[in-house]
Amino acid sequence: MTRGKFVTFEGPDGSGKTSVIQAIFDYISIKGHSVYKTREPGGNGSVIAEEIRELILDVRHTNMDPWTEALLYAGARRQHLTEVILPQLVQGSIVLCDRFVDSSLVYQGVARGLTIDKVKELNKLAVQGNMPELTLLIDVPAEIGLERIYRAKDNRQFDRLDQESLEFHATVRDAFLSLAAEEKRIHIIDGNQALENVIEDCIKVLKQHEIF
Ligand SMILES: Nc1ncnc2c1ncn2[C@@H]1O[C@H](COP(=O)(O)OP(=O)(O)O)[C@@H](O)[C@H]1O
Ligand SMILES: [Mg+2]
Repeated sequence: MTRGKFVTFEGPDGSGKTSVIQAIFDYISIKGHSVYKTREPGGNGSVIAEEIRELILDVRHTNMDPWTEALLYAGARRQHLTEVILPQLVQGSIVLCDRFVDSSLVYQGVARGLTIDKVKELNKLAVQGNMPELTLLIDVPAEIGLERIYRAKDNRQFDRLDQESLEFHATVRDAFLSLAAEEKRIHIIDGNQALENVIEDCIKVLKQHEIF
């Protein structure tokens, strides 16, 4: 049986990952390919990974140690990988996953300061070489990503963005771009254009890499 293809989407919140993945899922499905859409933390089809997600994202857990958090992400990832992603790949599906190891390197490694090297080691144990063959990094300036989130949430205006959120977003963006500069697997997509153009650019890269 042909092995499927594992593709991940990365980028800051508000970059357009969820919108783009949905459109690409529809596009590939219509073409008649077997395609599976999932996201981290947690994962579509894994009860255990979803329970870890709840634990990580629970707003009451303000005292979570950064290493506890990194370990939980890695644990959920491991479960999602073994229970859902690998079986889907064995069945020949194209697996589209919203966030994976690169997000941990950026958020836990850089933003939380655990260092990329250590978080990479941890995730090597978790994924045991099962990395995506292609990663699309949807890149947007910090202001644009934040503006979209605020607009989607409660219509707050761009001029009311707080400096701290802006700096955090800029740090995350720069960390993703540095990773992309080092990893051939990661392709940068300009997310600062009309959604239909972002989708078109993603599809172009997927075709170039013979994902479908
Ligand atoms: N290219 C785009 N141009 C304008 N708005 C967009 C674009 N892509 C996404 N959005 C909007 O921005 C918000 C965040 O998009 P989403 O797909 O949820 O991003 P992410 O999953 O990366 O956080 C949503 O309200 C979405 O409709
Ligand atoms: Mg999303």
